[in-house]
Amino acid sequence: MNYARIAGTGSYLPEKVLTNADLEQMIETTADWIVERTGVEERHVAAPGETTCDLSEQASRHALEAAGLEARDIDLIIIGTTTPDHVFPSVATQLQHRLGCRGGAAFDVQAVCTGFVYALDIAYRFIRTDGARRALVVGADTFTRIINWQDRGTCILFGDGAGAVVLEKADQPGIIDSQLHADGRYKELLWVPAGVSSGYEQTRENAAFVEMRGSEVFKVAVHTLKEMAEQILAANGLTVADVDWFIPHQANRRILSATAKRLGLPEARMVDCVRWHGNTSAASIPLALDVAVRDGRIQRGNTLLLEGFGGGFTWGAVLLKY
Ligand code: UT7
Repeated sequence: MNYARIAGTGSYLPEKVLTNADLEQMIETTADWIVERTGVEERHVAAPGETTCDLSEQASRHALEAAGLEARDIDLIIIGTTTPDHVFPSVATQLQHRLGCRGGAAFDVQAVCTGFVYALDIAYRFIRTDGARRALVVGADTFTRIINWQDRGTCILFGDGAGAVVLEKADQPGIIDSQLHADGRYKELLWVPAGVSSGYEQTRENAAFVEMRGSEVFKVAVHTLKEMAEQILAANGLTVADVDWFIPHQANRRILSATAKRLGLPEARMVDCVRWHGNTSAASIPLALDVAVRDGRIQRGNTLLLEGFGGGFTWGAVLLKY
């Protein structure tokens, strides 16, 4: 069987920045409260008319360039997103069209903030079994479109963005292991009640926006991220000391710190972009990965642990040699 390695990374953030000072003008909050409880100082917000496909396209072009490849080299596109441009067709098919590559499979995966990890796992399995040679794997969301800007418990956290990797067939890892999980019992802790099948006509006010029971999500997230890291490392005969860079879903600074502490992992080995990006849902992990690759922290040969956690709940981890 084949292995799969990351050949290049890319990311994109919309131009507009929304600061905590801006939020102070919009809702009853303070910049100090937001920083203390979340670590977020600013987040990017897509311009009117700027879509998830637009963000995905920019991130993908950067990843292709970093990999030294052309779009025609790609034979699989998977996008993790919860905020597609349309009900259908998928963002992935539209991205394929824009990049100018045709014929290979292209589809979206909906696993909310774990979307990129789900997409990466699936692409890895395609390549392992000769279903594809080179995949474009994207995490992209315009989450601010489903935020209720009157709800101070959610609007402070989220931002928009996209991250992408080119995953290609290789003789050795690359990806060492990958695990996905879900538990639908937690639906109402973090969700958007309105939907296609249950009806857009809002049965109650604000049903089309994110609702979250923040402190409950917080507890499950920390516990799950810690357990999953230990599980995937043990399954591969490794310990936390073997991880050069830990890249968890960038949910909230306090979740990241609590997870690192429980794992006994020094925060200096964790990539943390929460301060500048906020929580960008499926984009958060590939965005953080790209930032740390481009600023030189992540080097070829480093062992990385990527961990996602999101609505559903869904969660998943990918252990890899960069
Ligand atoms: O991908 C996973 C995505 N989800 C998450 O990462 C969410 C994880 N959870 C969190 O990040 C935190 O729960 C929040 C940041 C959302 C909230 O922080 P918290 O420390 O759990 O606060 P809380 O919800 O327990 O609320 C504490 C107080 C409340 O006031 P009272 O009832 O004690 O008077 C809230 O009304 O803080 C109040 N509050 C605010 N105050 C100022 C809630 N939001 C704000 C705000 N500014 N923006």
